[in-house]
Amino acid sequence: MIEQVAQIIKNVSRGAVLTGAGISAESGVPTFRGKEGLWGKFRPEELATMDAFMANPKMVWEWYNWRRELMSKVKPNAGHYALRDLAEYFDNFTLITQNVDNLHFEAGSPDIIELHGNIQRNKCAKCEKPFEDESVEILPDAIPACDSCGGSIRPDVVWFGEMLPSGAIERAFFEAEHSEIFFSIGTSALVHPAASLPMVAKQSGATLVEINPEVTELSGMADFRFACGAGEILPQLVELLKEDRTNG
Ligand code: OAD
Repeated sequence: MIEQVAQIIKNVSRGAVLTGAGISAESGVPTFRGKEGLWGKFRPEELATMDAFMANPKMVWEWYNWRRELMSKVKPNAGHYALRDLAEYFDNFTLITQNVDNLHFEAGSPDIIELHGNIQRNKCAKCEKPFEDESVEILPDAIPACDSCGGSIRPDVVWFGEMLPSGAIERAFFEAEHSEIFFSIGTSALVHPAASLPMVAKQSGATLVEINPEVTELSGMADFRFACGAGEILPQLVELLKEDRTNG
């Protein structure tokens, strides 16, 4: 099956991928759903909404600082690096991620669309001006204020009920519609609009490849499904493509 996917890649020029928390699971970043998922232990409405931030900014910052600390200690895994390498086999390859952990950047992927923001960045909760003073450590008891409007500084991630960063979702849909092969990797495909991207790609004629140890809403429509970890199968795919190139 993996040979068939490699063969398709050789014959197309545009590819795209949507990643979710599962791609970073092998780096030690917890996913959201499933047995060990964050949303099994924490209530999203108390931590990942603007209402929660207005009601209890200290608690929200404590939670984000805990996740930030956790993410600062992890490294990209074989799946992230293989996706970086996979880009070389296309004329146009866009990596769309729902993750906020920065690991695709650290791995060196060339064209990344972050749909849900980035946990390393901060912005004003009121006017959205980026807060870029890296010397300021955000302490939950002393949350800095925006130098333009005085609003409280918050993490630059998308919370439930919020719009996605302007331009990002539009470009992601464009790439999904124009891709010839689309990979859905490590996502439960439950959170829209991101979860619509693989469907849009498939409806627009792309070959849909899913990599996920668990069955998802998308599994039934995938042309190829690999029920295993991304860090296991993606390096094998890249290896096949490399061998093929070497053998001319
Ligand atoms: P989920 O936690 O919903 O799903 C993670 C998926 O990864 C599951 O389907 C797992 O089976 C799969 N998985 C686990 N280990 C894997 C591995 N090694 N290789 C491949 N797949 C693996 O995470 P997302 O789909 O990313 O939104 O969640 C989507 C959004 O919901 C997140 O971006 C976040 C959350 O609420 C916001 O914060 C806005």
